[in-house]
Amino acid sequence: MTYIQGDPSLYDINWSTDKIQAFRQTLLAWYDETKRDLPWRNTNDPYKIWVSEIMLQQTQVATVIPYYERFIETLPTIQALANAEEETLLNLWQGLGYYSRVRNMQIAAQQIVADYAGAMPQTMKGLLSLKGIGPYTAAAIGSIAFGLVEPAIDGNLMRVTARLFELDADISQPKSRKLFAAILYQLIDAERPGDFNQALMDMGPTIMTPANLNPEASPIKEFDRSYQNGTAHLYPVKKKKVKATEHQLIAYVVQNLQGEWLIRKHDEQELLTGLWHFPLLEQSVVMEAVSEEELIEPFSDWWAEQNSLLNDYAFETEPSITINQQLMPFGDLSTLTLLPKVKHVFSHRVWHVQLVPLMMKIDQAGLQENENMRWQSPKQIRDLPVSTLQQKLLKALESYL
Ligand code: ADE
Repeated sequence: MTYIQGDPSLYDINWSTDKIQAFRQTLLAWYDETKRDLPWRNTNDPYKIWVSEIMLQQTQVATVIPYYERFIETLPTIQALANAEEETLLNLWQGLGYYSRVRNMQIAAQQIVADYAGAMPQTMKGLLSLKGIGPYTAAAIGSIAFGLVEPAIDGNLMRVTARLFELDADISQPKSRKLFAAILYQLIDAERPGDFNQALMDMGPTIMTPANLNPEASPIKEFDRSYQNGTAHLYPVKKKKVKATEHQLIAYVVQNLQGEWLIRKHDEQELLTGLWHFPLLEQSVVMEAVSEEELIEPFSDWWAEQNSLLNDYAFETEPSITINQQLMPFGDLSTLTLLPKVKHVFSHRVWHVQLVPLMMKIDQAGLQENENMRWQSPKQIRDLPVSTLQQKLLKALESYL
């Protein structure tokens, strides 16, 4: 696990020493006066602090308290945790969810017994070497139990910091952490780093909440740029993740009797505009249980449509031969599974593309070439502007032909 020290050159908070001192004093005075009396706050035992921090990940304080008490009573030491039966662990954890958290804790306890003579390591490096302990947990344990001057950067600390400085960094981006670290290392109280962190951990869910219902109640409002400018509702910036949609496509490698392939240029309505591809069509049925006919069908429908569009335009009235009679798979379609599906990732879309090679049985190709559609030899295709996807398809095809 990499350990990022704060790099003040990333962001200079530009506060005088007096202002920084005043901020620390105000925050810690508020904490001393109002701090929640939580069972893990009456101890310096790193093991207990560790247990609480792991439980508090993804679970609310009120839910955690009885679990915490039972856990510590049953397994009071690192050694006890290292030697516990799996069933005991799962019983103690039942209802908290994310069992891997407690499994990792036991592995870490065994690491501590094996590598650290049974005592919790007291440096960031040592803490980060333990299973399940990342930068947040290491900093929380390190600052609370050992007085390490390390900000424990979680969602609460990011929200508070983003508002104090009106930061536009997107908190859903892992790289933003560095910026928050740079600022928090300038603010953190070196005498009471654990209390400083916990003060902000309390401030986040009680006063500087996401909804920010009572901004006047904030003891640190005079230090808070977003309070002064009435912009608290704009921070923190969290860009919504648009979930990528998955699409199954077929790339048809249609070969005519001259051994040429049908290739078309994507228009402005399509992704990968202006680049040449095998005809790509969305697959309507999921591949595994699909018959040969169903495999060909999307192409044959599309082909008929292309022809009729072109024929209407050219006032041609010749009846077209039904496409299924013109096409046959080349090679054995049952070997298609040997062709790897090509995966292509766009920003919010993932294509899984299956190659389907087809042969045009009759010489008359049906469709005249036009500026967006051509028959080309495999060699000529390489001279056209093609997308990375098309390159991947050609490569996949090489192994098949
Ligand atoms: N959330 C995570 N750790 C916490 C702590 N030590 N105090 C309060 N809330 C927390």
